[in-house]
Amino acid sequence: MKENIVRQEYDNIANIYDLRWNSYINKTLTYLKNWANISPQDTVLDVGCGTGEFESLILRDNPKQHITGVDISEQMLLVAKNKFIANSNLYPNIYFQIARASSLPFANHSFDIIVSASAFHFFDDPVAALAEMKRVLKPDGKVFILDWCKDYFFCRLIDLYLKSFNSAHKRCYTQAEFHKLLTSANFNIQRAAKFNFDVIWRMMVVEMKL
Ligand SMILES: C[S@@+](CC[C@H](N)C(=O)[O-])C[C@H]1O[C@@H](n2cnc3c(N)ncnc32)[C@H](O)[C@@H]1O
Repeated sequence: MKENIVRQEYDNIANIYDLRWNSYINKTLTYLKNWANISPQDTVLDVGCGTGEFESLILRDNPKQHITGVDISEQMLLVAKNKFIANSNLYPNIYFQIARASSLPFANHSFDIIVSASAFHFFDDPVAALAEMKRVLKPDGKVFILDWCKDYFFCRLIDLYLKSFNSAHKRCYTQAEFHKLLTSANFNIQRAAKFNFDVIWRMMVVEMKL
């Protein structure tokens, strides 16, 4: 099962993740935050939250935002928790929990907004992950997923490379493959875009509803 390998890989790099990927994290998560335009009243779930950088961005504007991050890596979650623990009185509604995307430990219809950034291409069972997002989303809620986009040469190249040399890597998707998965899971795509991360790397993002 790849999940164990992914967990191990992220446990190993948790302490250097923010520093190593600083520019990538800032750019992608700021893009996602602007795209999602989350209202202060929304209850948010972040699937594959990593070191809690999306949470930092959201709480900077709305310290009382109700936001839960889940991840399979205990060490990534530890880094995330440490960012907020000293100021827990300032951020009363931030929670982190260990969980797999394909088995979310929440009641049906719990969240107004679900986000997932740079994690979807790791999911062992993307169909189960989407079914879980559907289950825990409120009927009028929205899901935003941002991920690498295999429509572009360098992503195809990296996908091939990682498939050969990194056992944690699952697979990247073209936008068409990604959208097919989403619509097969009975999500309705509201908006979709591709954007340049830098001169060679491109990402895709989607907003969807039930
Ligand atoms: C590239 S990091 C992205 C972290 C964060 N979303 C960000 O943008 O900085 C991918 C994260 O997804 C998590 N992950 C991978 N597969 C997962 C799964 N099946 N369920 C939950 N989290 C998962 C990893 O542990 C890792 O922390």
